[in-house]
Amino acid sequence: MQEKIVDFLKKKQGYVSGDHISHRLGITRQALWKHIQELKDNGYDIAAVPHLGYRLIGLPDRLFTFEVTRDLNTQFIGKRIHYFDSLASTMDMAMQLGMKKAPEGTLVLAEYQTRGWGRLGRNWSSPRYKGIYLSLILRPKMLPERASILTLLCAVSICEAIKAACGLDTQIKWPNDILIDNKKLGGILTELTASTDEIKFMAVGVGLNINNDKKSLVPQATSLKEKKGEVINRVHLLQEILRRIESNYLLFQKKGADFFIEKWRKQSITLGKRIKVQCHKKIIEGVAQDIDTDGGLLIRNDSGVIQKIMAGDVIHCR
Ligand code: BTN
Repeated sequence: MQEKIVDFLKKKQGYVSGDHISHRLGITRQALWKHIQELKDNGYDIAAVPHLGYRLIGLPDRLFTFEVTRDLNTQFIGKRIHYFDSLASTMDMAMQLGMKKAPEGTLVLAEYQTRGWGRLGRNWSSPRYKGIYLSLILRPKMLPERASILTLLCAVSICEAIKAACGLDTQIKWPNDILIDNKKLGGILTELTASTDEIKFMAVGVGLNINNDKKSLVPQATSLKEKKGEVINRVHLLQEILRRIESNYLLFQKKGADFFIEKWRKQSITLGKRIKVQCHKKIIEGVAQDIDTDGGLLIRNDSGVIQKIMAGDVIHCR
């Protein structure tokens, strides 16, 4: 009902009488008043003036399910959203939902994570209402060893969405760091449940710094607000991310990975660079040559030998 009230008020320019709203929505004046109070508690700025009625003045900066699904127009990504004001980690929740057969495209969103984690078990700082912290359940029909290709697909989709929604250019550091001007803006993580020849489901986790102030970020990190110099509409950006992931994913299922691997190459800040990679306990050094069709990074060492790595921490050498 709150979604209907917000939609109703959004369409009206000035004040709308309580009688009119309750009549049109088929609820009592008292029920309407209660819903309006709850909306106000959730950050909706609604003016209430005796004899005039209600008027929507401002929307809250929240990723409420009905704000995200409004005009989203996707086929399956984000059709089901589990929204939390606070959660330990969207990844943990997505893994639980995946086990319980949640359909492909199910999205877990949190405004704040108390135990957000990144690659290699690192902590992922998730301040309240500042970023986008999501995990998406996918059920791709492919071999488990090719799963990391979907991390690249998501990285490309996120860069496209940031360009479309905020007009900012981003780069990708292999395998899954989203950078602006060499500073980390976000990261992607994938967890998998699979048998030897089949992925049961995967959870793709995305963390992005959006409206963080510069002083709250470590020197190696940045946010979209810092780069753009203005507050970013998180709902619009999130919707764009979901649309891009879906369209690239559908195209991938039809045509294979070539088209987005090419996009990934163009966006990559790693290819052609001299790099060091901490891979298990070994350090591999050489020039990042290319990306393989399964998302692995091909590194040519000084003797000309090419080695492929599937995971590791890349350091770009000067
Ligand atoms: C990285 O190490 O760069 C990947 C970071 C991924 C963080 C996101 S935030 C949403 C989701 N939930 C988590 O606990 N982690 C991922």
